[in-house]
Amino acid sequence: MKGLVLSGGYGTRLRPLTHTGPKQLIPIANKPNILYCIEDLRDAGITDIGIILGNVMPEKVQEFLGDGSKFGVRFTYIVQGEPKGIAHAVNCAKDFMGDDPFIVYLGDNLLKNGIGAIPKKMTDEKADCVISLMPVKEPQRYGIAELSPDGKNVVRCVEKPKEPKSNLAVIGVYAFNSSFFKVYPKLKPSWRNEMEITDAISLLIDSGYKVAPHHVVGWWKDTGKPEDILEANHLILDSIQPSNAGKVEEGATVMGRVKIGAGTVIMASSVVRGPAIIGENCRIGPKAYIGPYTAVGDSCQISHAEIDDSIIMDESVVEVEHKLVRTMVGKGSKILSSAGLIPKGERLVVGENTTLYL
Ligand code: TTP
Repeated sequence: MKGLVLSGGYGTRLRPLTHTGPKQLIPIANKPNILYCIEDLRDAGITDIGIILGNVMPEKVQEFLGDGSKFGVRFTYIVQGEPKGIAHAVNCAKDFMGDDPFIVYLGDNLLKNGIGAIPKKMTDEKADCVISLMPVKEPQRYGIAELSPDGKNVVRCVEKPKEPKSNLAVIGVYAFNSSFFKVYPKLKPSWRNEMEITDAISLLIDSGYKVAPHHVVGWWKDTGKPEDILEANHLILDSIQPSNAGKVEEGATVMGRVKIGAGTVIMASSVVRGPAIIGENCRIGPKAYIGPYTAVGDSCQISHAEIDDSIIMDESVVEVEHKLVRTMVGKGSKILSSAGLIPKGERLVVGENTTLYL
């Protein structure tokens, strides 16, 4: 079985973070989302993995992932370019897949318990396709699956139904065999001019192929919006294991489960309350408070500030007597004090599509 991880799309809902790179590289508990997907595939025994590249700085994905050897897998890069839909992205991998069955993983999805059950389901059920399902509160907002009375087959798949027949949302992990490529030429673009994966699944069903459901156990997160990323960060940090490769000075307090990277110093008079992660070569203090569910990347400097439930990305500086909550700070940003500046007032250099609550 092969794997396919989608790293295309525009990521408009995550601007400005996606002005400088694809959303799949946004760190969640200091690890890019796409790496969780790759580890799930590898842990399911899938090491031959295609990576779909879009046109939001795809070179950054290649630079980060390389040939796959450092993750114990082998990557083949496949250019989709313009995002013409998830089904279109999958069809771009036709030559790479050949006759092999494969798992498609959206590079902005996260699953607590991995995907190990899906290859087995494909074989046991002799299915042509397996789709992962999760009950949701607002089925009108998702692609929704309808099952046969015995629950063994998917009989219909509808994108954002006005009158949903179930609350089972189709989430971003699917398994297919080469029947996908046989039906794809019959697929038509949707009202939003995308080749929809739900339509491709419906086409498989209508063409007589077997589509089986896989009910996901544990949490699932789609990290399409800033609040989703913060929530994903929270969920991952909930099970973080504490470790300290840095230095905690006398007079500093580290409580709960905290992971501290090499070269990082937690200075006297500072407090870190887990669950939290702090990367390498950071200076935390003086007078910093890092609260629960916060991820601080590498080479950051934080002093005088209180930070809770937030993501501070690599090489950022926060040196201001303010409390930041549910905040995301992009790489290399600076949040500094305006005290003593003349004329008085807040000074902001705000990039496109930024949101500030002052
Ligand atoms: P979406 O979140 O539906 O699309 P998007 O990334 O363009 O985001 P936004 O709506 O904020 O502009 O995409 C789901 C996943 O599939 C995501 O990992 C990107 C990937 N994708 C592709 O690789 N190619 C595509 O053509 C599309 C539509 C998505």
